[in-house]
Amino acid sequence: MQDLFEKDPARAQRMSFDWQDFYLDYSKNRISEETLDLLFQLAAEVKLKEAISAQFSEEKINETEGRVVGHTALRNFDSMKVEVAESLQKIKEFTRSVTTGAWKGYSGKSVTTVVNIGIGGSDLGPDMVCEALRYYRNELDVRFVSNVDGDHVMETLKGLDRETTLFIIVSKTFTTQETLTNAQTIRKWFLKDASETDIEKHFVAVSTNLDAVADFGIASQNVFPMWDWVGGRFSLWSSVGLSIACAVGYENFEELLKGAHEMDTHFVSSEFEQNIPVILALLSVWYNNFFKAESECVVPYSQYLNKLVAYLQQGVMESNGKSTDRNGDPIDYQTGTIIWGSTGTNAQHAFFQLLHQGTKLIPTDFIAFTRSLHGNQDHQNKLLANCVAQTEALLQGTYGEEVENNFKLFKGNQPTNTILIKKLTPNTLGGLIALYEHKLFVQGVVWNIFSYDQWGVELGKKLAKGTLQNIENDVESNGMNTSSGELIKKIKKSW
Ligand code: F6P
Repeated sequence: MQDLFEKDPARAQRMSFDWQDFYLDYSKNRISEETLDLLFQLAAEVKLKEAISAQFSEEKINETEGRVVGHTALRNFDSMKVEVAESLQKIKEFTRSVTTGAWKGYSGKSVTTVVNIGIGGSDLGPDMVCEALRYYRNELDVRFVSNVDGDHVMETLKGLDRETTLFIIVSKTFTTQETLTNAQTIRKWFLKDASETDIEKHFVAVSTNLDAVADFGIASQNVFPMWDWVGGRFSLWSSVGLSIACAVGYENFEELLKGAHEMDTHFVSSEFEQNIPVILALLSVWYNNFFKAESECVVPYSQYLNKLVAYLQQGVMESNGKSTDRNGDPIDYQTGTIIWGSTGTNAQHAFFQLLHQGTKLIPTDFIAFTRSLHGNQDHQNKLLANCVAQTEALLQGTYGEEVENNFKLFKGNQPTNTILIKKLTPNTLGGLIALYEHKLFVQGVVWNIFSYDQWGVELGKKLAKGTLQNIENDVESNGMNTSSGELIKKIKKSW
């Protein structure tokens, strides 16, 4: 890369472009014009254009589950489905009544705390966005409980007042062990001071499973819709994002959706040469399949985005961690990349050593906002200087310099993309999230895998049920392998 830059002063200009408040620089990659041409040819060969159109149509592209993939319809304000518009209206009214204090708990007090009970897509997206938009938040204390670890729920409930707390149970299926266990525990905690008839003032649900929600005791007017055409990990745009709307107000929630829709339009209508998700996806395929890179790193230079990576891990790895192609045949090439990372500058003082001098090739996305929200210019200058300097160091290394010894040698030539965004707003955050959604979809198309199912999570869930019976009923290992059987014995002995 050092040579490519030296020979071609216009490289950075050619391999970068603006789109709205976004600027993508992908010049620091191990590519030439020819590589790009070939990658675009690959996109044409796998019929990417047609695949994108199919994703935005009513076709059941989630074939193994026989479902339409409709999360982009949740934010399409140009042509909104009636049920989506109705659900947004319901979110708006609910959010207003909670944030203005009109919604009263059983003792007549207004809500001060909202607790989201959910896991996976019913937790990670809302939690990440509430954190990312902390600057835009109101007075409400919004918390998240996800893990079946009882200590998580107890810590979440610590200091909470039953009279002023509202719980949102979010579960598309309403069968998820973690969520239902937490919801039942919280219900019991609530009923220590309140009565069954008070539940409707303190519990609402987001789900497709209306019967199970009713069995839990939630009033029908307190149920927000979910649809089987929205995948869990793509659902923060639906009523799954209710906690976001509560935390930042409905208008900001709508802005988040609008920003995502603008990215959808960019993705659908831009030429591939100027298409942010397509370029990032093809570059990722380039390293994954031609350089055997195992992982890629994401480093946002904003503390607000400290939950972005965990969110992307579900999006990317639950979608593309597949080894069967669309014909049902085993795959003999690499698919799903491993996503990891953390915020800069913190990450520089943790794992960047390995990026600079390790043996592995790890393409890295640097994400930064040119303006800070609190206007702390001195900090902002230092933050951005670090961001740019790191991409420079990873590219250039000590190339062409005399170094004392190999310990001080930096080979450089480490690929990075830089995504510069003007400012962190609900709108730009929506665009950024949608960017990564589209990127993973493009990769799935190239790899000829179905990105929208997640059969790989089922076996563990099933075995956990049997294992629980072994633990609870004192049954000996019950057909489990001896290692697992011994573990269970050990667990029981220590009680
Ligand atoms: O186990 C994985 C998963 O099915 C995710 O895809 C989903 O986001 C999560 O569980 C939660 O599911 P639910 O919303 O149905 O509780």
